[in-house]
Amino acid sequence: MANLSTILFKTLFLVYFHQSQSATYNIVELGANPNGEIESTHSMSKAWSLACASTTPPTIYVPQGRFLLKHLHFKGPCNNNAVTFRINGTLVAPSDYGSIGGASNWLLFEGAHGVSIQGGVLDGRGAALWACKMSGNKCPDGATTLGISNSKNVTVSGLTSLNSQMFHIVINGCENVMLQKITILASENSPNTDGIHVQLSIGVTILNSKIGTGDDCISIGPGTIDLWIEGVGCGPGHGISIGSLGKDFEEEGDENVTVKSVIFTNTQNGVRIKAWGRPSKGFAKDVLFQHAIMSNVQNPIVIDQNYCPGNKNCPGQVSGVEISNVTYRDVEGTSATKVAVKFECSESSPCHAIKLENVNLSYKNEPARATCSNAAGTVAGIVKPSSCLF
Ligand SMILES: *[C@@H]1O[C@H](CO)[C@@H](O)[C@H](O)[C@H]1NC(C)=O
Ligand SMILES: *[C@@H]1O[C@H](CO)[C@@H](O)[C@H](O)[C@H]1NC(C)=O
Ligand SMILES: *[C@@H]1O[C@H](CO)[C@@H](O)[C@H](O)[C@H]1NC(C)=O
Ligand SMILES: *[C@@H]1O[C@H](CO)[C@@H](O)[C@H](O)[C@H]1NC(C)=O
Ligand SMILES: *[C@@H]1O[C@H](CO)[C@@H](O)[C@H](O)[C@H]1NC(C)=O
Repeated sequence: MANLSTILFKTLFLVYFHQSQSATYNIVELGANPNGEIESTHSMSKAWSLACASTTPPTIYVPQGRFLLKHLHFKGPCNNNAVTFRINGTLVAPSDYGSIGGASNWLLFEGAHGVSIQGGVLDGRGAALWACKMSGNKCPDGATTLGISNSKNVTVSGLTSLNSQMFHIVINGCENVMLQKITILASENSPNTDGIHVQLSIGVTILNSKIGTGDDCISIGPGTIDLWIEGVGCGPGHGISIGSLGKDFEEEGDENVTVKSVIFTNTQNGVRIKAWGRPSKGFAKDVLFQHAIMSNVQNPIVIDQNYCPGNKNCPGQVSGVEISNVTYRDVEGTSATKVAVKFECSESSPCHAIKLENVNLSYKNEPARATCSNAAGTVAGIVKPSSCLF
């Protein structure tokens, strides 16, 4: 009798203990090896299964060290909406790009509502693939380092992503995602290494981050609503770009995009909107670019609706994307080319309600220029170069 009640008590205590204490899964305790050479994919995958099955908020802990991981799919929904990754170490992709196995993402979170990723370094080791692409040989597209798809209420903070094969971070089909204090670095001439790409997502916020890559620092694809970007340092790279839009005829629009307090240094573009020269139902509206500083930027302010790489699949066509209510407020600094403001809008769907408010861009010690086609709008305050909007 005494034994039975002791066992019962212990069991109840354990159950209580497990439920009140949030579980921590240390990947090293699950067999991961911090030497960066022996693969730890299985241990990480086990940590996710345990964490995802937990009914109380669990933590996956990655201690210091380098952990070699192949493709991983962190798939929800989970039994909780609060898995935390606390990463002190570095997650390392295989050195041989072929061994991610053609997956489009190295680390993919899908349906992972409420996940929070804190700290850590992701080392994509993309250099070999970039070299292959630049040699003109036939190479795979490569993988996005961190994909977050169809997930709600996700936060990522203090994460560093290095040398991705392709895009560094892609937010796709998500709602309510907060990215902050992110550092992204890849070589200036690495192909397609966009920093953060957002598409088909509502309520994404990107704060206080530093991005330098060989492509867009941030690219904003179709179907992006209520996006807020603030406090970003961009460069080297191709700037912050809405687009390419209008690749498909049936396409979601972009709406309510704010880009605030961004410093562009030696980038190809500053704030850009780019659309394919093809018919489309896509649009971009209610966009605010505010407090941008340009330092030696080739195209500080640009709308280009004639995008058609290689002149394939669009010759002779014009963009159907409607671009309206775009405000450039307090934009200053230096252009690396004479044309600091360029609005090349569509003949069939002219840009309208473009607003320039306190824009001061210079080119060397000469006046810079603005060029416009099919762009209508208004001006307020000081605007240099003077506006060509009709
Ligand atoms: C994570 O690493 C830092 C040093 O980089 C160390 O100070 C801290 O204690 C570590 N955190 C844990 C929980 O081990
Ligand atoms: C996301 O967060 C909102 C607000 O906190 C909450 O109402 C909703 O249930 C959450 N959704 C999921 C799938 O966790
Ligand atoms: C625009 O998006 C921001 C978040 O980025 C949100 O706070 C604001 O309410 C949205 N505005 C409208 C009119 O929906
Ligand atoms: C234009 O966009 C801004 C956000 O940048 C929004 O607050 C405003 O309501 C929009 N104006 C119109 C007329 O839709
Ligand atoms: C515009 O910027 C230049 C240098 O960047 C500065 O000398 C000039 O005072 C500014 N003009 C106005 C009106 O702010």
